[in-house]
Amino acid sequence: MLSTTALEPTIIIIFGGAGDLTKRKLVPALYNLLQDNLLPQRYAIVGIGRRKMDDEAFRGYLREGLDQFSRRGQAAEDPWQDFAANISYVSEDVSSATSGAALTLRLNELDNAWGVRANRIFYLAIPPYMMEPAAATLKRIGVCRDCKRDRLVVEKPFGRDITSAHALNNLLSGMFVESQIYRIDHFLGKETVQNILAFRFANSLFEPLWNRRYIEHIQITVAETVGVENRANFFEQSGTLRDMVQNHLLQILCLVAMEPPISFDADEVRNKKVDVLRAIRPIQADTVHQSAVRGQYDRGFVEGKAVPGYREETDISPLSSTETYVALKLFIDNWRWQGIPFYLRTGKRLPSKVSEVSIIFRSPPHQLFPSAAVDNWQPNRIVIRIQPEEGIGTRIQVKQPGTRLLLGEADMQFRYREAFKAPAPEAYETLLLDVIRGDATLFMRADQVECAWNVVSPILTAWEAVPPSDFPDYAAGSWGPEAADRMIARSGHSWLQPSLKKSYQ
Ligand code: BG6
Repeated sequence: MLSTTALEPTIIIIFGGAGDLTKRKLVPALYNLLQDNLLPQRYAIVGIGRRKMDDEAFRGYLREGLDQFSRRGQAAEDPWQDFAANISYVSEDVSSATSGAALTLRLNELDNAWGVRANRIFYLAIPPYMMEPAAATLKRIGVCRDCKRDRLVVEKPFGRDITSAHALNNLLSGMFVESQIYRIDHFLGKETVQNILAFRFANSLFEPLWNRRYIEHIQITVAETVGVENRANFFEQSGTLRDMVQNHLLQILCLVAMEPPISFDADEVRNKKVDVLRAIRPIQADTVHQSAVRGQYDRGFVEGKAVPGYREETDISPLSSTETYVALKLFIDNWRWQGIPFYLRTGKRLPSKVSEVSIIFRSPPHQLFPSAAVDNWQPNRIVIRIQPEEGIGTRIQVKQPGTRLLLGEADMQFRYREAFKAPAPEAYETLLLDVIRGDATLFMRADQVECAWNVVSPILTAWEAVPPSDFPDYAAGSWGPEAADRMIARSGHSWLQPSLKKSYQ
């Protein structure tokens, strides 16, 4: 690992500086990196946006966000002042064809003050329709011509379908070399998501079992309790398939299903992930209903609180057909996974916020115990808990204490919080530090994003052609629409309800 002093002077320029992501995630992450002595010795943060603000007002806005959202809680005055001295704001409309002069000036001022040409990280935390004009402005003003020093971070969603993602990739590849482009999916920065690779490939115990011979099926659940919050405009255009499945869930699937890479080199890892996406059996237009279920929440109760239905939320159309829940059944056509179903589900306003991967193993080939002993028999299961209570649980069968031979289940659990006392960094801390260091392993390459769009494209097309007739179809606070239960039941399986007891049963 590079020590902080070895990191070159760096300017982080955030497009969408006055936006929600900057305030909630990016700046708290940068502040926490500083507290952990992980930022370069010379760094500057420049916010850029349309809103008119001076540096002081911008700092005040960020301080509010920091106090509210940082994992460290409220910032103490002295460290905040040190940090704030490195923050400034440029008010420019980056989508205008004449913008860029103020940004150029600020970057030059910083370079002159430091006496070096600093590394520049341009972070596009802006909606998809602004990506193209912002990238064009960068090209026109020529502030990111150094392909070794300058990097571009692109927030999700990367396009809204395969055509627009391809067009955006083409546009960017005409301006930057691929190694400069960091397409972000913040799930890949979560500790336990990264730990999937360590768990699989740093242990010799599990990998021999990690295939169709021993595994019966796999479930990936990303459940949220929140509703649409204050993102109505974005979400109405997006829906859960685009917002969560095309990126977060498919990326987790890749880590669970990929072949071992030769090394931890960024392209080695990304090649193996692309192989998984390319091997996912295409869903045929006429069978979408068998492999994909969409849902939308109605009013209900979440964590004891009454909440409105999606169509009753502020700025949402009362006739909206946007999905807030998706369940998929996918197959991966390769030697390792042929015939093994991967069930994915994610939704808003579900009973608890929990993300986990469950690996369900086959029954032993021969049942030698008397039937009375195996009354309550359950297959072995490994559960990788991504959040909250990050950890890994393994369910095994053991003999219950007593004079009779009676089997029962027991859990072996590993919890991050107990095993390692140090708090885990937030996903954005890990990812921002990787960009500063120039490590693209956890970011998506152009082909990866397009392959992921290809997986969901037939579903998007089928759903757009036939609006849902039964929305809303699940109560807030339930585990989703009954159609999702029917889909999985058709293959003889059922959804495993994540345990709310903070264990992994
Ligand atoms: C974002 C989605 O990418 O991930 C949101 O746009 C979602 O809709 C969020 O709520 C979930 O992320 P996390 O880190 O809170 O699990």
